[in-house]
Amino acid sequence: MSEKRLVWDLPLRAFHWLLFLSIVGLWVTGKSDADYMDWLTKHFDITWMEWHFRIGYFVIGLLLFRIIWGFIGPKHARFVNFVPGPVKFFSYLGGVFKRDSKPAIGHNPMGAVMVLVLLASVGLQAFTGLFTSDDIVWAGPYNSAVNSALADKMGAIHHENYEILLVLVGVHIAAILYYAIWKRQRLVPAMVTGKKPAEEVPASEAIPGSQLLKALIVALLCVGAVTVLVKKAPAPPVASFD
Ligand code: HEM
Ligand code: HEM
Repeated sequence: MSEKRLVWDLPLRAFHWLLFLSIVGLWVTGKSDADYMDWLTKHFDITWMEWHFRIGYFVIGLLLFRIIWGFIGPKHARFVNFVPGPVKFFSYLGGVFKRDSKPAIGHNPMGAVMVLVLLASVGLQAFTGLFTSDDIVWAGPYNSAVNSALADKMGAIHHENYEILLVLVGVHIAAILYYAIWKRQRLVPAMVTGKKPAEEVPASEAIPGSQLLKALIVALLCVGAVTVLVKKAPAPPVASFD
């Protein structure tokens, strides 16, 4: 078997796949008025919106983790090593349709911009969720901290940005398919195993390890920060009828 070298650390990969699963979960649990919700509610004794909130808090923690990791994580996780300036970005765009362009070691400049846009959209979604209410039963924990006009605006963004997020995820997956089919660069295995073929990664560019102890400390800090965010909320997440 050909030699492989580590590029994506384990915490970054865990972040990615947990984010993916969480977004699917938030989609399923958020659509309280969808037809499948009636079916789900009938067959499972679960208050789905409660899980929407829990997964939403988890995503806030994930994002916080990824931002901190982007400053102190291993080489290819760091923003400074993949966010391109305009010159690098546009010169990369010039070769985007070429079949035989050299594979990037970490995120390529176009992928890097997509990463930032995806993170921003997920961040906006999670942030607005904190203030969103369905005006019947459910209200995000900070809904009562803002006036109703602002809360309505946040709710509208929570609904509309989700559609945008879906499009962005579609583009993200289409780009990965494009790289696999047209450029013959398979990016998914590396996001699973963390490794790329040695021919694509000089030894000096491989990362020595995943820095798991550091990741654990950052993860605990994030759990603490999200706990404070939830506990300090002015109102309980569930509005009451009594
Ligand atoms: C809700 C869905 C998804 C979201 C929000 C999402 C978001 C992201 C983000 C933020 C990154 C950057 C990773 C980092 O540096 O931390 C990324 C990279 C990546 N994602 Fe996704 N992703 C989603 C679904 C998927 C799916 C379904 C696949 C597989 C088909 C996939 C494959 C990849 C790959 C291969 C990369 C690395 C690209 C590269 O080599 O530059 N993603 N994704
Ligand atoms: C990335 C994170 C999140 C995603 C992707 C997401 C996604 C969604 C989606 C798809 C809906 C249904 C919208 C519609 O029917 O058009 C929804 C509704 C809702 N979300 Fe989120 N959400 C996230 C985070 C949060 C958070 C953190 C909270 C609060 C703690 C929250 C609270 C709500 C509430 C209260 C509704 C119901 C609004 C209504 O029915 O009018 N969400 N969310």
